[in-house]
Amino acid sequence: MATGSVEKRARVAPAAEPATVLECRDLNVHFDTPDGRIAAVNGISFDLKRGRCLGIVGESGSGKSQTFLGILGLLASNGHAVGSVKLHGEEILNVPRRRLDAIRGEKLAIVFQDSITGLTPHKRIGEQLSEVLTEHRGLGRTAARAKVLEMLELVRIPEAEKRFRMYPHEFSGGMRQRVMVAQALLCQPDVLIADEPTTALDVTVQAQILKLFKGLADHTNTALVMITHDLGVVAGLCDEVMVMYAGRVVEHAAVDELFYAPRHPYTRGLLACMPRADRDSEALTAIPGQPPDLAALPAGCAFAPRCPYAFERCEAERPTLSLAAPGHARACHLEALP
Ligand SMILES: Nc1ncnc2c1ncn2[C@@H]1O[C@H](COP(=O)(O)OP(=O)(O)OP(=O)(O)O)[C@@H](O)[C@H]1O
Ligand code: SF4
Ligand SMILES: [Mg+2]
Repeated sequence: MATGSVEKRARVAPAAEPATVLECRDLNVHFDTPDGRIAAVNGISFDLKRGRCLGIVGESGSGKSQTFLGILGLLASNGHAVGSVKLHGEEILNVPRRRLDAIRGEKLAIVFQDSITGLTPHKRIGEQLSEVLTEHRGLGRTAARAKVLEMLELVRIPEAEKRFRMYPHEFSGGMRQRVMVAQALLCQPDVLIADEPTTALDVTVQAQILKLFKGLADHTNTALVMITHDLGVVAGLCDEVMVMYAGRVVEHAAVDELFYAPRHPYTRGLLACMPRADRDSEALTAIPGQPPDLAALPAGCAFAPRCPYAFERCEAERPTLSLAAPGHARACHLEALP
């Protein structure tokens, strides 16, 4: 009987890993400023898989946005990205502007926190959304209009026909954000990057929009990157998560692993700050101290000045990201958290 069950198990093929869409290797982003060089992103590597959602968390200034702005060729003029980023095997880091514009329209879309900056104020919503399809997909005006109306309905914009003719300022914040989601998904991108897409909105609207995101991304098998301060968002939406500190990934694991068995002191600190229904808010503990100056990163672990477990080696030697368990990487000199 035991043998039978082993045979049965052996016959069950393991679930196929979804295909890798985007492969980022050793990405660095720095900014040259009058006060020196700022190392905003330092040696980041990850894969994005079709239909999966990767969460990126970390305090303000930890390099979350610059990582993806670097990938998309959208850094400020004093910024430089170095490394390798492949989309379906094609190198896209620092390729000429025209090629990047085409890729951004068709394969990689980003939704920012502030929907007003993503929309052109003097153009009607319908017109700007239709352009996405006429310019990038070669659709005629009538076909584009029909598709835009369909998408507006999908993101639950009421009275889509009427809204089609309205200007961005005539929409509420929540509705503008839905329009941004619709715009990003119109070309059915392979990768959708959402950079704090709901921070400016009230909590109920946030939840609706995040659900919408996930539902639409699942529906179209898009790889989703969710950049957020909010670990609650990660828990609800993401499959895996990368925790960033001072421009580096300090922990990378499946969401359940990271929540139930964090292996980096910083992640544990973030989890302790997270509001939970079973804990009163006074029990919340912000991590004491400040992140380091990115213009003068220490030789050792950047988290050492704030780490309750720091020991001699931490000041002298920077921990590298290595596997602590299958699929669970962390950058810390401790074998295990005390
Ligand atoms: N043009 C620039 N010149 C110099 N430094 C810059 C420039 N743009 C960004 N930075 C620095 O890069 C670092 C990383 O910024 P980034 O925007 O990625 O942070 P973030 O993790 O997205 O933070 P937040 O959660 O506040 O959005 C910050 O310290 C920021 O000050
Ligand atoms: S390497 Fe040392 S200082 Fe850094 S997180 Fe681990 S224990 Fe703390
Ligand atoms: Mg940011």
